[in-house]
Amino acid sequence: MSDDVRTIEWTGDGLRLLDQTVLPHRVEYLTVRDVDVLVDAIRRLVVRGAPALGVAGGFGVAIAVRQAARDGWDGARRDAAIARVREARPTAVNLAAGVDRVLPFVPAGEDAVVAEAQAILDEDVRGNHAIGAFGADWILDRVGDRPLRVLTHCNAGALATAGWGTALGVVRELHGRGRVELVYADETRPLLQGARLTAWELDRAGIPCVVQTDAAAPSTILRGFVDVAVIGADRVAANGDTANKIGSVGVALACAAAGIPLVVAAPWSTVDPSVPDGNGVPIEERPAEEVLTWSGARTAPAGARGFNPAFDVTPARLVTALVTETGVLEVSAGTTPSMRRGGSAVS
Ligand code: MRU
Repeated sequence: MSDDVRTIEWTGDGLRLLDQTVLPHRVEYLTVRDVDVLVDAIRRLVVRGAPALGVAGGFGVAIAVRQAARDGWDGARRDAAIARVREARPTAVNLAAGVDRVLPFVPAGEDAVVAEAQAILDEDVRGNHAIGAFGADWILDRVGDRPLRVLTHCNAGALATAGWGTALGVVRELHGRGRVELVYADETRPLLQGARLTAWELDRAGIPCVVQTDAAAPSTILRGFVDVAVIGADRVAANGDTANKIGSVGVALACAAAGIPLVVAAPWSTVDPSVPDGNGVPIEERPAEEVLTWSGARTAPAGARGFNPAFDVTPARLVTALVTETGVLEVSAGTTPSMRRGGSAVS
């Protein structure tokens, strides 16, 4: 993201969020000063994407601390507000992890909490650049010397992070090295994060891109139009099973069938070693209205009920590589996050 547009930023006045529900047609910001507004913004996807949610969680604690002082809350009320931020969305582990990381600083006061939340933000931007470089190196080593056709799903770009992006960080790096021919951006249900956000980011970066329906993605891969798929993650289990936006598993199955790599780009903060495999990942179910309506008008018959899981789990055997800020794990070949030693991945 260029300097004029920041996804998430602490301004001193509050937490300033780029409103991702109105992009690309409007660039608007929401300054959040109380916890209920933040919880609502997280649920409505004003701020979204696992790493950005981690940053929002950290600053969410700062908002709760400030609001407690302003409104005369006792500790119990403050802690209940922090818990609401932590639980606003369940799948991306970064949200809870961001809250938990800054919690020890609460007794030291707002400035200490803000400093730690800012550290999460700064580390995320640095980590994403490293992910981009590791991912580009790994991909170029394997696919040979030709312009690449890359498929991505949902938005794992600067908008989903504190800056640069994970999956789109890899794409940006490949583009910087002159190696991107075309990006297929899956449109993404329910809020068209791919069509609205990924296409916007790629267009601003001058990276050629076509938007396709999620349902088209497996066929596009099987027809031989794609060299590599690069996606983000909301939570990676210890065995490498990867939760990401609904539809990711179809992309993964098609990649395996076509014999092309599925690359998951995610920081270590998205790895949850407490969850042994994908069965332990809580899958957010969103309101049925998001699939029963279109542009606010009911499309399904009155009696129809909806089923709207926001995420799915790709089994580790389908994840060719997990790219983190410390290196690359070849997951389907048997190198899982649980094998991480001494803070470094196998590169
Ligand atoms: O529902 P969303 O838009 O928050 O889902 C986002 C994704 O699934 C992303 O791929 C994931 O969070 C990784 S973002 C770097």
